[in-house]
Amino acid sequence: MKTIEIIGNKTLSGTVRISGAKNASVALIPAAILSDDIVTLCNLPEISDIDALTDILKALNVDVNRATETAVIDPKNMINVPIEKELSQKLRASYYFMGALLGKYKKVEMYFPGGCNIGKRPINLHLDAFKKLGATIVESDNNYIIEAQELKGTTISLDVASVGATINIMLAAVKAKGITIIENAAREPEIVNVATFLNNMGAKISGAGTSIIKIKGVNYLGKGFVEVIPDRIEAGTYAIIGALVGDNFKVDNIITSHLDAIVEKLKNIGCNITEGEDYLLFNKVENFKSTKIKTQVYPGFPTDLQQPFSVLLTQCNGNSKVEETIYENRFMHIPYLNKMGANITVSGDVAIIKGKTQLTGQEVVATDLRAGAALVVAGLLAEGKTTIAYAEHILRGYENIIEKLTELGAKIAIK
Ligand code: EPU
Repeated sequence: MKTIEIIGNKTLSGTVRISGAKNASVALIPAAILSDDIVTLCNLPEISDIDALTDILKALNVDVNRATETAVIDPKNMINVPIEKELSQKLRASYYFMGALLGKYKKVEMYFPGGCNIGKRPINLHLDAFKKLGATIVESDNNYIIEAQELKGTTISLDVASVGATINIMLAAVKAKGITIIENAAREPEIVNVATFLNNMGAKISGAGTSIIKIKGVNYLGKGFVEVIPDRIEAGTYAIIGALVGDNFKVDNIITSHLDAIVEKLKNIGCNITEGEDYLLFNKVENFKSTKIKTQVYPGFPTDLQQPFSVLLTQCNGNSKVEETIYENRFMHIPYLNKMGANITVSGDVAIIKGKTQLTGQEVVATDLRAGAALVVAGLLAEGKTTIAYAEHILRGYENIIEKLTELGAKIAIK
């Protein structure tokens, strides 16, 4: 088990460069195997989820050459073997191999994916879509054998605008016969990044970033290149840190429009933000106003920033309200924030945060990735020492977090 220790209540200054997006990269890597030639990905973050996907590629006999923030993937010698349970369950995004292998070989065998325990997280929409494209599915003990004689384009209307299902349908349909239409598609920027990559390889996808995506099947995908977009969740997390403990604190290398929902809330509570073309600059303010946040699909307020943002709300004067609409179980950081001195009550999918409260360092546990990120934010703010157990969760999604925060002046270490 890894542990992060933070001595908090220090003002942080300087520039933090935001890395490539985890949730784009974890789809781009499985997408790469749809090519029959060499593809290059750059601006890949160095995080453990990428290592886990690289292990799956290796198990499929795909050549992977990784250098700093780059991967050259050559699937020419690939073999379609079942993906073992341990590899499937290491992360959520292993499920993108379902769509990619089905799309390429018309057959895939793997287990139900892993990932943070933040709710039920079923994959029914993915499986229903594969069936609509012509696949049959045999499931036993969380093992799935999905295969098709032929994949045929069709119209798939999603009940929920799911990021994972939208990307998986694109992967499965890109080489299918005819045209596939996804209605009520998710609109997250990561989906656009994946569609752009597939199109660069020769796919014919239009409408990514809107709620209707059209995929015209092609026979062959070849050489390709993609630059991973900046991570809007990492950027949002540092923006929250900048708002709380930053002075002359710059969050750099971002696409500011991807952060509109969070910047609006930061301004709403009274943060001092200067917006540049590709950066946000934070200067200190003494008092924040309370607000309400409700998580929504993009372009709404992202669920992945709800937990870090709740720490900021402990410093707002008055009652703030947080409503989590995407996952059933994303308040697991709250008992630890209360242990540190916050005054938060949870009832169902709503948390009421009474501020402002002084936080003090405590021993806490990172129950999942973003809960862990929230506790890092709390530790940076708190008086004294915070010890965060199970820090592995945090390393799944934040590249060089210890180095980046140290560079900004934080007292933080990992053991
Ligand atoms: N859902 C279903 N059935 C499905 C698929 C989804 O009911 O077949 C439900 C989910 O249970 C959830 C909602 O739909 O309530 C949204 O889920 P979605 O499919 O959009 O999420 P995901 O693809 O599993 C990705 C990110 C998450 C992020 C969500 C929402 C990856 C690997 N994961 O998950 O990221 O919270 O989109 O933006 O891209 C994180 O980075 O910490 C993280 C959890």
